[in-house]
This record gives sequence, C-alpha cells and structure tokens, in this order.
Amino acid sequence: MDKLQITGGVALEGETRISGAKNATLPILAGALLADGPVTIGNVPHLQDVTTMIELLARMGVTVTVDERMRIEVDPSSIRECFAPYELVKTMRASILVLGPLLARYGRADVSLPGGCAIGARPVNIHVAGLQAMGADIHIEGGYIRARAERLHGARLVLDTVTVTGTENLMMAAALAEGETVIENAAREPEVVDLANFLIAMGARISGAGTDKIVVQGVSKLSGTTYEVLPDRIEAGTYLVAAAITRGHVRLKSTNPAHLDSVLGKLAEAGATIGTGSNWVEIDMRGRRPKSVDVRTAPYPAFPTDMQAQFAALDTVANGVGTVVETIFENRFMHMLEMRRMGAEIRLEGNTAIIHGVEQLTAAPVMATDLRASASLVLAGLVAEGRTDIERIYHIDRGYEAIEEKLAQLGAHIRRVPN
Ligand code: EPU
Repeated sequence: MDKLQITGGVALEGETRISGAKNATLPILAGALLADGPVTIGNVPHLQDVTTMIELLARMGVTVTVDERMRIEVDPSSIRECFAPYELVKTMRASILVLGPLLARYGRADVSLPGGCAIGARPVNIHVAGLQAMGADIHIEGGYIRARAERLHGARLVLDTVTVTGTENLMMAAALAEGETVIENAAREPEVVDLANFLIAMGARISGAGTDKIVVQGVSKLSGTTYEVLPDRIEAGTYLVAAAITRGHVRLKSTNPAHLDSVLGKLAEAGATIGTGSNWVEIDMRGRRPKSVDVRTAPYPAFPTDMQAQFAALDTVANGVGTVVETIFENRFMHMLEMRRMGAEIRLEGNTAIIHGVEQLTAAPVMATDLRASASLVLAGLVAEGRTDIERIYHIDRGYEAIEEKLAQLGAHIRRVPN
C-alpha cells in the first residue's frame, strides 16, 4: 500500500485545475441506467470511486467505455441483471445510487445494504421509505435490499432528514414514475442540481432542484445524451485551505466560486484575500498567519461537512481558538486524534472540537481514516516541521485526482512511495 511523504514548510504558489466533482459523477453514472440509449459523460475525475461505479455497472452487463480523456460512454441496453453485490457496495456506499434507477427502469433491484462507515451509521431508511411510498415492494433479506415494482407511481415525499444521495435516488426513480412526485425537505447541494440537469437533458421533467422542494413529472422514457460534470467544490475548497494554511498564493482554474460561498466566507474571516471570476478563484495569504475560525457543518448552502476536517487543520496553526461543530455525521473527528499526534491542541466535547492554534505542528507518522480526514492530514503535513508520512492513502485516491501532482505543481514537497 502506498503512502504519502510530505516535508512541510513551503508556501504554496501557482495555479492548478480543479477536476470534475466526484459526488456529481457517481449519481450521474447511476442515472445513466435510466436511459434508452447510450449516454456520454465528460469532465469525469480519475478516481477510485468512479472506477468502482464503472465496475458496478459493468457487473450488471452494462457496456461502459472510457477514453483516454476520461470521457465515459454508458450503454445500459446490454444489462443482464439488476444486482449490486456486497463486495462492491461495502467499498463504496454511493453504490446505493443504483437502487432508484434500476427499480424505475427495470422494475427490480437487489442491492446490498451498505454497512456502517468510518464517519457514522449512515442508514438508508429514507431512500427505502421514499421508494415504498412510490409503490415499491421492498424486503430486507440476507443483507440485501430486494425491491420490486411494476411501475412506480408519483408520491408526495417529505424527507425526515436532508439527505443528498436520498434526494438523488428518489429524484431518479421519480423521473420514470407514473405521475407527479414532490420531494419536500430535499437536499439543495449543487451535485443534486447537476444530476437534475443531466436527467433533464435525457428528457426528464424536473423543477425546483437547488431548492428544498423538487417536483418531478414522470415520463415514460428517457433518451441518451451527452453531459459535462460540474467542478468539484470540495476539491477546490481543499486547495484553498492548502494555500491559506501554508500562507501561500494560489489560483484555481475550472471551478465555480458560486458553489463555494460558505467556504470563501470562512477563508476571508481567517484573513485571506479572495478574488473570483466566473470560473476561477484566487487566494492570497502571503505573510499572514491565519486567524482561527468557528465552523458548524450543515446541509448546503451552509458550511459543508466535507470541508470540516480541512478547516480543523487550518485552526490547529491559526492565531486564537476555533470551534468546529459537526452536525451531519456522528463520528467524523478521527483526524483530530491524528492531528493531536502532530502537536495540535484539540479538546473534544461530543460533536464539538475546541482547537487552540499552536505556532508550529511537528511531523509524525499518521493514518488516514476516511477521505476528508486524509485530506486534512495532508494539509497538516504541508505546514508541519519535518517529514510527515501518511498511511492508508487509498482513502485519498477515492476522491482527490492526482493530489500529489497538483500539490507538487504548487511547490509542495510531496511524494508517493510504496509502503
Ligand atoms: N440519513 C439518514 N437516513 C437516510 C439517509 C441519510 O438518517 O436514509 C442521515 C445520515 O446518517 C446523515 C445525514 O442523513 O446523518 C446526511 O447524510 P446524507 O444522506 O446527506 O449523506 P450521503 O448522501 O450518504 C453525501 C456525500 C458525502 C457527504 C454527505 C453530506 C455522495 C456520494 N456522498 O453522502 O460525501 O459527506 O452527502 O453532504 O454524494 C465525501 O465525499 O467524502 C462524502 C462522504
């Protein structure tokens, strides 16, 4: 297993390009199952999770071709079975996204229940209840969700909790259901909007995506299309924090600053100078120590849980005391314990971390526990004194395209070595 070696102390400087969004690519690939013809998807990031979703579709018999520029063509007409096996679902929870499309398009789906997860229990009860309200017959048997339906019908769904993949699964199912579906308390994340736009390009009739009420008029068929995935706002946010924590100056291309409002607001509070254009963001923190910021995670457009660990890293070396409150996942603080081993002063009280900024972190061997936790350890390594070795970086490869190349391009001393 590879590890990352980072020697801290370099202020990042330069320009890099942001990749397509992982969390939009995954539902869009699943959504391609709804189409009657081939779908072509561009701006797809080269990531392990994307490979897993492709493998999942291929196991079902779907024809998937990937060119050298990561344009993916999905032709679902060759599908043989509507089955998502445990061995794949356990490596990627987002596999649950095939449930709605399979059921709506083919009338059946056998999808393994995702188990627990490093960041929380993450049940899928809202996905299941929504499909049942749309007429699906669902049994949980032998660790699998076994779902059947002649044709789903529209329903009024009021989601108990704001759920991103839950909203996506139900919106995809509703696209081919008979009649109107209203999803209340829907997730408003840009990735939900991207999926809606993709479905609309296939012929779906969806309005309200990006608000908490999505209305879907079911249609009888959806056709193939070509679609470009939106830029990854979490990857962008991570590089912005990398610039801030190292007191650097970085410009990000191919990004959408409108999706980064809460993150840019917090970076400005930390003392950074921010510039934006329609598809770029620039951050300048040269010669300044960041100021501590308080963050509280909540569904979009509030501060994203997927940026919590990175801001915790920023607070460890900032001037002052910052509090980080995690309200989405009950166990998303593993990085705090690793950062303590690098000299961070962090007190944990339930879902709150109180972080006293220190002048200097010191390098230590650390272990990645989930995707965003790994990113925060990379950030800590970029400013720690000495060489930080980060193990279990397969987590990083699930969600950050070529992270060591992009950081090295910005001047970081980072390399991937076999363990
Ligand atoms: N929840 C339920 N029941 C459900 C579904 C969700 O109780 O049926 C709860 C969850 O346990 C959690 C809350 O609702 O407490 C919100 O979870 P959500 O369903 O929104 O999370 P998700 O859809 O499983 C997506 C992203 C995550 C991101 C979260 C929150 C994808 C593929 N994953 O997960 O991304 O953290 O939304 O924004 O879109 C990551 O990229 O590192 C990552 C974990």
